[in-house]
Order: sequence, then C-alpha cells, then structure tokens
Amino acid sequence: MEFIRDYADWFYLIGAVLFILTLRGLSGPKTAIAGNRYGMIAMAIAVLTTFFVADHPVIWMIVGAMILGAIVGIARARTVPMTQMPETVALMHSLVGLAAVLIAIAAIIHNNKLVELGPELLVANGVSFHEMSKVHLFELFVGCFVGAITFTASVFAYGKLAAKKWAKTISGGWVKPVQALIFIAMLGFGIHFFLSGSMTSFWAMTALALAFGWVWIAPVGGGDMPVVVSLLNSFSGWAAAGIGFTLENNMLIVAGSLVGSSGAILSYIMCKAMNRSIINVLFGGAMGGAAAPTAGAGEQVQRNYRSGSADDAGFLMSNADSVVIVPGYGMAQGRAQNAVKELANLLKEQGVTVRFAIHPVAGRMPGHMNVLLAEADVPYEDILEMDEINSDFPATDVVLVIGANDVVNPAAKDDPNSPIYGMPILEAHKARTIMVIKRSMATGYAGLDNDLFYNDKTMMVFGDAKKVVEDMTKAINGTGH
Ligand code: TAP
Repeated sequence: MEFIRDYADWFYLIGAVLFILTLRGLSGPKTAIAGNRYGMIAMAIAVLTTFFVADHPVIWMIVGAMILGAIVGIARARTVPMTQMPETVALMHSLVGLAAVLIAIAAIIHNNKLVELGPELLVANGVSFHEMSKVHLFELFVGCFVGAITFTASVFAYGKLAAKKWAKTISGGWVKPVQALIFIAMLGFGIHFFLSGSMTSFWAMTALALAFGWVWIAPVGGGDMPVVVSLLNSFSGWAAAGIGFTLENNMLIVAGSLVGSSGAILSYIMCKAMNRSIINVLFGGAMGGAAAPTAGAGEQVQRNYRSGSADDAGFLMSNADSVVIVPGYGMAQGRAQNAVKELANLLKEQGVTVRFAIHPVAGRMPGHMNVLLAEADVPYEDILEMDEINSDFPATDVVLVIGANDVVNPAAKDDPNSPIYGMPILEAHKARTIMVIKRSMATGYAGLDNDLFYNDKTMMVFGDAKKVVEDMTKAINGTGH
C-alpha cells in the first residue's frame, strides 16, 4: 500500500503513456483492438492508484457508485444499436460535465468547512490544512463553468439526436442577445467569485453556465449535432483537466487534455470535410443544419434522368471488371450493410474487383460508414478513404452509390455558387458507369440538387437500399455466371 502511495506519480505516468498509445491504436481499424486494451489497462491503473493516494476515501461509497455505474454501462453497451451511438456518446459527455460541476462544488464546500473549523483545530486532529489559493479558485471557476455548459449542452444534444420532444430547436432574433447576456452575466459572477470567494456568486455562475449550455446549443440544427457532440467531447476533456488541477491529480490532467485536444481536432476535421467553419456551425443559427439551396422553389426546372431496374444494374455489374461501392447515409438508414456485403462477395466470386470508397463525412457521425462496414465484416483492405480512391474513378467500370448524395455532388468542384463549393467529394462522376440507389430524386442533407443524377452515364435505381441491393444479388445469382 505504502509502495503504491510512494510511487503514485510513476503509476500515473505509465497510465498516461498507455492513454497516448490508446489514441494511437484507435487511429486504424487493425490496431483498434490493441488500442482499446491499452485504454482499459490505463483506466484500471488510474482508478486503483487513486484509491491509494486519496486522503480518507469512503470506500463503500466509491465502490458502490462504481458497481452501479458498471451495471448501467454494461447494460447500455450491450443493448444500444449502432444508430443510437451518437446520442449515447452525447449522454456520456453530459456525465463528465456533471461530474466536473459536482467535484467543484464538493471542493469548495469542503474548503469552506475547513476554514470554518480553523486550521488549529484541524492540525490538532491530524488533518492537514491548505488555504485555497487564487490559482485553485481559478481552476474551480473554469472547471465548474466548462463542466456546467458541457452538461446541459450535451443533455440537449442527446435529446435532439434521440428526437425527444423537449429538445426543441429555438430560433428568432432574441436568441443571440439572450446568449450574450447570459454569457456576460456568467463571466461577471465567475470573476466576482474568483476575487471575493463569494458563494452567492459561485451558485449564480453555476446556474447561468447551466442555462448557457442549453441556449447555446438549442438553436443549432439537428444535422449539425455530430459536430457539436465532438466539440462537447473536447469540452468534457478540458473540464476534466481543470478538475485534475483542483484534485492535484496528474493522470486526470493528462487524460483530460488528451480528450480535449483530440475532440477539438476531430471537430476541425469534420468541419473541413463539410466545408463549414466551426463558428458557422455553432453560431449560424437554426438553419436546420443545412445550407440553403441556391435555386428558389419557383425556378425548379424539370430535368431528365435515366432509371433502371435492380436486374439491369445487377447484370451490368456482373459483367464489369471493377466496381466501387460508395455508401452514404441511406445505407445506414436502410440498414443495408449486410446485404451490401453479400452483393460484394458475390461479385468478387465472379471475378469482379470490388472496393468501397469512404468519404470522411458520409452518414451522420465520424466513421459512420467504417463502423457499419466493419459490423458487416467487410475486409479492411477493401475499404479505401477518399484520397486513396479518387484517382481510380476514371478507370472504374461501375460506381454503385448506395444512399449517398452530397458526398458525390460534383457541384462541390464545378459550381462556385454552390453552398458546398470547395467541399472535398468522391469523384464518382468520373467513372464509366454510375448507378445510384435511392428512394426518390429528393435532396440529401445539404438540401441541394445533384448533377450526378442527371449525368448521361448515370442510372438511377429507385427503392429502399436494402431491398434494391438484395434484388441485385438475386438478379446476379439468376444470371448463372
Ligand atoms: P446525404 O447527402 O444526406 O444523402 C443521403 C441520401 O440517401 C438521400 O438523398 C436519400 O435520398 C437517400 N436515402 C435515405 N434513406 C434511404 C434508404 N432507406 N434507402 C435508399 N436511399 C436512402 O448523405 P451523404 O452523401 O452520406 O452525405 C452526408 C451528409 O451529411 C453531408 O452533407 C455531410 O456534410 C452531412 N453531415 C455528416 C456528418 C458526419 S460526421 N458524417 C455530420 C453532420 C452532417 P431519398 O430520400 O431519395 O431516398
């Protein structure tokens, strides 16, 4: 026991290195399992060491809370469907925020109690006494308000993603002034607390931070929630790091900073892949997450497109040398991944080269397509990122677009007036033949028409992704190649 106490910093250092290895491992599918294991070991080291370094820990309370948390966590992890992953992640961030707030409150109440009792009495009873320094107050102030904002903002993000009635998007001219007012008042009370140590100001700051989290995120459109969730992930990390300073726990500081910076980088990557700025996402107001379509409804012109049956499409693909499958949100929505895998296998058996092309923001959350394809056991070597596959499209016989729209919209390259101009896309339009599975000619997330669908080389195959893909498989099987 004494040994662990004496070498606590070393154990924390080992844990911190393992956390860094975890992130490294999670950066690729092949190393992800090892990465997860490093994370588990690091977490176990962190928790166990903390038991030994804590002053007078109330073991039954901590262990009780851990058992309860583990029961809820395991039950949830076993039952949550892939489609509910974003809201589950949002809910978890809210807990990190809440923990930061509660720890800050506990630290302050604890400190006030110590001051009340008086240093002499404490020392006489063998309790060490530290007067709370200004630095400490500052850490508490930052940790508490970042935690409070993270808590309510994440609860709202959860509600929005889970389509709960209470998570209503707010809009109107009053939103921005109210946001600004709450923010300034929150800072004002926070600074007063920092200077005077006044508990009234502390409670006011916390309450305003809770309110701010809500009004800040409530105007953001549902579609932009993934970016918000990733940003809140970053916030929860910074809140944890702030609390790490309060508790003088190096491990928490390192782990919090890792989460904080990786979340910030991920938010940046997502915004870049959508050609949006983070400011636009967070303060762009209630645009439903989508950019406004360029053409007014009245100016819509009837355009011609070609459509074909699943049978025709199946026949064409089975006669091709190379097929690239571009999955999008529609594949997730239609839960078609297993059917797609079967189709790919069948084509491969017939000597067709089949690969998958993944756009960084295809779907509605980071890595959405990778996760679905991994779930369906598609081999990793068949899955290529945008930069790896884009140059291969001109030499590809057939591109099969399954429920993707914006990520293959050529306007992003050709039309400077398009709201998505500049967004990197999968250059499916360069392939010899393009097939698109979707249910109608409706627009995708960005609300924009897509020239790809009207291309001479394109055949639309209308229907639900899963049903169409299954029909294609049946058609190819029927041809008896
Ligand atoms: P979208 O542009 O949203 O297009 C998806 C298409 O799938 C729709 O046009 C829809 O057309 C079709 N579809 C829906 N359900 C279907 C079903 N059951 N069967 C067949 N088709 C179905 O998707 P995308 O190309 O994957 O692009 C993603 C978009 O989301 C981008 O604009 C991106 O910026 C945005 N976004 C992504 C993220 C992340 S992190 N991935 C986060 C926020 C926003 P029909 O209705 O005609 O079927």
